[in-house]
Amino acid sequence: MPATMTDIEAYLDASAERRLESYRELLRIPSISALPEHAPDCRHAAEWIAGQLNAMGVEHVEVAETGGHPVVYGDWLHAGDAPTVIVYCHYDVQPVDPLDLWDKPPFEPQIRDGRMLARGAADDKGQLHMHLRATEALLATRGRLPVNLRFVFEGEEESSSVHLDAWLEARRDRLSADLVVISDTGFFEGNLPAITLGLRGLMYCQIDVTGSPVDLHSGAFGGAVENPANALARIIAGLKDADGRILVPGFYDDVVELSAADRASLAALPFDEDTYRTGLNLPALAGEVGYTTLERRGARPTLDVNGIWGGFQGEGAKTIIPAHAHAKVSCRLVADQDPDRIFELVRHHVQAIAPAGVRTTVTSLGGGNPSLTSMDHPATRAAARALEATFGQAPLYIREGGSIPVCASFGRILGLPVVLLGFTNPDDNAHAPNESMVLANHETGIRTIVRYWDELAEVPIGA
Ligand code: BES
Ligand code: MN
Ligand code: MN
Repeated sequence: MPATMTDIEAYLDASAERRLESYRELLRIPSISALPEHAPDCRHAAEWIAGQLNAMGVEHVEVAETGGHPVVYGDWLHAGDAPTVIVYCHYDVQPVDPLDLWDKPPFEPQIRDGRMLARGAADDKGQLHMHLRATEALLATRGRLPVNLRFVFEGEEESSSVHLDAWLEARRDRLSADLVVISDTGFFEGNLPAITLGLRGLMYCQIDVTGSPVDLHSGAFGGAVENPANALARIIAGLKDADGRILVPGFYDDVVELSAADRASLAALPFDEDTYRTGLNLPALAGEVGYTTLERRGARPTLDVNGIWGGFQGEGAKTIIPAHAHAKVSCRLVADQDPDRIFELVRHHVQAIAPAGVRTTVTSLGGGNPSLTSMDHPATRAAARALEATFGQAPLYIREGGSIPVCASFGRILGLPVVLLGFTNPDDNAHAPNESMVLANHETGIRTIVRYWDELAEVPIGA
């Protein structure tokens, strides 16, 4: 460990209690981006973060308007010729329902069994907080950072980052950098350190099927009219076959097939299907025929119903032909599928198979592009060295099934490579009740970030 890490270590040890308390402070702010009534909380979280950046000596700190929830920006650019890194995390969180399944209220953080329990503890306030504390430790002990940093902390990631592309485009000239580091991913099964190389994209839509303007008596009218709920069921059944193949014509046209090397590297990961299945409490795993579980969840596209409703939902029986029925449907996409094109293909196919006696509409609810990054980039290799030095083992290279739409935007709009350096454990219950972060990951991860900036200062990146 270089001598300078010893100072950092002493600083982090001495500030351990205060750091936990600031982590809890951030977690107490219910910054749920999807719910309009929480907009003031999102702003509060942004201002809290801006206050932290200011206090530690980061400059040009700004709670920047986007048209939606603000972006927190700040920079420290006094590292001369060393690389400039944009650090991205998000301070917004997912809704917390169903509340009764939480052991503790979601915005009253508690430490239990070596984990911080709260909504956002892992995704993504925990990781944002790690960057705050790593920067603070460096500035407090050395008075400087090894690299130039620009922080971009977003408040709408969990709502498809609707305003971020425009914000990046408008700021393009003021965001010059060599690299983007996103800390919003995690480790592999078994809490093994990992660097994520691939993220899936997303296409999200709603299907609405309407019949007669009001419910009809199912005895008086049944048999003579189309039933919107039956029609919706038929539409959904026409989207995917029993082998897990998506039936939308053209859907697979732009999919980059897995190379033999891709398949070999996924197959080499230490993954036990049975442990995975029992951990999920499932009778069997399922998916597209011809692909392994890791391929299915990280490198192949999907089509899933996220919600379905319509007709009578109460106790007992009510004999009606429902007036309408609805479904939320989303596709996880892989390189090089384009979410707008996939939406058009799905819409067209739904219209083509929709029964004639109802009206069917398909509405886009947003999406994002997939991304694939290289494990050969010097910045990726530096991240691997930093993880190995702090966690004591070389990271695995993995593909995540989730999406971070802004990952592709940084490439498209700013032309920058992205390193996905995240620290959460796969069993963190992200988006679910009892979300948690392993505190050992949080602590060691702060040291990894410090180490990473030291490593990056030593390698030629970009120019
Ligand atoms: N941090 C996740 C992305 C993620 C998920 C990374 C799983 C690694 C593993 C992110 O906050 C997220 O939840 N993204 C959404 C994107 C959507 C709202 C556009 C997702 O994947 O559903
Ligand atoms: Mn996230
Ligand atoms: Mn999330």
